[in-house]
Amino acid sequence: MQKLAAGNWKMNGTRAALAEVDALIRAHPAPGCEVLLAPPATLVAAMAERAEGSALRIGGQDCHAAASGAHTGDISAPMLRDAGASHVILGHSERRADHGETDAQIHAKVGAAWSAGLVAILCLGETEAERDAGRALEVVGAQLAASLPDGAGAENTVIAYEPVWAIGTGRTPSLAEIGEVHGFLRRALAERFGAQTAAAIRLLYGGSVKPSNAGEIFAVADVDGALVGGASLKAADFGAIVAALSAA
Ligand code: PGA
Repeated sequence: MQKLAAGNWKMNGTRAALAEVDALIRAHPAPGCEVLLAPPATLVAAMAERAEGSALRIGGQDCHAAASGAHTGDISAPMLRDAGASHVILGHSERRADHGETDAQIHAKVGAAWSAGLVAILCLGETEAERDAGRALEVVGAQLAASLPDGAGAENTVIAYEPVWAIGTGRTPSLAEIGEVHGFLRRALAERFGAQTAAAIRLLYGGSVKPSNAGEIFAVADVDGALVGGASLKAADFGAIVAALSAA
């Protein structure tokens, strides 16, 4: 399995920030893992052009469930694909919270991504209250069951475990807690899709991953990479995480 370092720029970056992409490609021309950046939609085409001929892959941060139509302000999976994206992040907790996205809507978006030939990076994660109540596994299990359609495989799906309370806070679960959730997700995928398929689907950890903690997180069983927010904005930080994953 090729591991995956994915960066989520969220609502950050204008064309001036593309210099970071050039720096990342220069510093890591042949990384020992798959590397992806998901910029805001306004930069997808420009970033894809900059990345052409390099190992860097480009992703969107969301897509609509329909391929086209009267949906002002939305972007479809075929549009992302046309702009040069190969992946799309779906079900991020900020979309669930800011836009009220439900598992059923996310399920439809994953199907739309697959139909357009995009790899879906499906995000799951519990809130702090849910973890404190001992419900973390139950919550991510329910999200996985309700938001991932039949037909998932390593070629079309990546799962990102992102505890909501760890995103952008500088706090992370213990390594044992990360391992517990990732092991649980692997078993849940195996029950549904078979052991071979489950073993090949990448399970990313996300939430306050930075150069200083990446190595220990990547050493946890069933962690196949990271989805990185804040630390993906600077080539030096994201490059250090790419190097840590390549060495893991
Ligand atoms: P963070 O964000 O790395 O800034 O915590 C992670 C994410 O939301 O994907």
